[in-house]
Amino acid sequence: MIGRDLDDVDFIRAHLMGPSSIVMIEELTKNLPLQNGMRVLDLGCGTGLTSIFLAQKFGVTVFATDLWISATENYRRFRDFGLESRIIPIHADACSLPFANKYFDAVISVDAYQYFGANEQYLDCHLTPLVKKGGIFAIAMPGVKKEFDGAVPVELQPFLSPSEFDIHWHTCEWWGKLWGQSPNVYVESVREMNCFSKAWYEWLQCDNDYARDNIALLNADDGKYMNLISLIASLK
Ligand SMILES: C[S@@+](CC[C@H](N)C(=O)[O-])C[C@H]1O[C@@H](n2cnc3c(N)ncnc32)[C@H](O)[C@@H]1O
Repeated sequence: MIGRDLDDVDFIRAHLMGPSSIVMIEELTKNLPLQNGMRVLDLGCGTGLTSIFLAQKFGVTVFATDLWISATENYRRFRDFGLESRIIPIHADACSLPFANKYFDAVISVDAYQYFGANEQYLDCHLTPLVKKGGIFAIAMPGVKKEFDGAVPVELQPFLSPSEFDIHWHTCEWWGKLWGQSPNVYVESVREMNCFSKAWYEWLQCDNDYARDNIALLNADDGKYMNLISLIASLK
């Protein structure tokens, strides 16, 4: 399996954890100046699909960091792809990252930042110290078209548990304001992603209960509230 490519639909569907991380990272990285040899933190990488994509497409060295998925499980996958020297699996909490200051050329995070980064402290306390001057921050995550303001819309209430409410879905404006307050980054863009339908379509094809449950959520939403958002910035 050495040198395996990430074009196996069944493999991808078996490892997705939400709207397709591959579809999202393709759009997120389209115009990023990632180059061979750069050091990239893939924060909240889950099963590491995005880490494999980054190592294969750009030749970067990826620190594939996650909380719920063990480093051992991800290492096995990276080895199957012949990428064990390019992707370093790390089991860590995003609020307690075991890296040196000014270590990374880029931080990339797909469908994870909303779990820990939706507050005024996270970016400047935990992330900006780890990045080199001029380094890139590129985040893609679920969001909303208008703020829920403390109450999930009635149509979505049957499908969103209190834990999902804690995930902190917000609008582009909300994220732009949050990162705009940081003295450490230039915000380059905050926008709705074009890939919403494709990323969700791929996820809803997956053979697992989480994906099956989300079919009713997407139907109830009917294009009204849910969104995918990208946030790109660089370190001053
Ligand atoms: C919905 S999954 C998405 C995983 C992957 N990025 C993807 O798109 O397939 C969310 C991921 O965020 C990670 N996560 C949530 N809170 C975290 C934290 N405090 N520190 C590190 N990772 C965290 C989880 O471990 C989980 O793998």
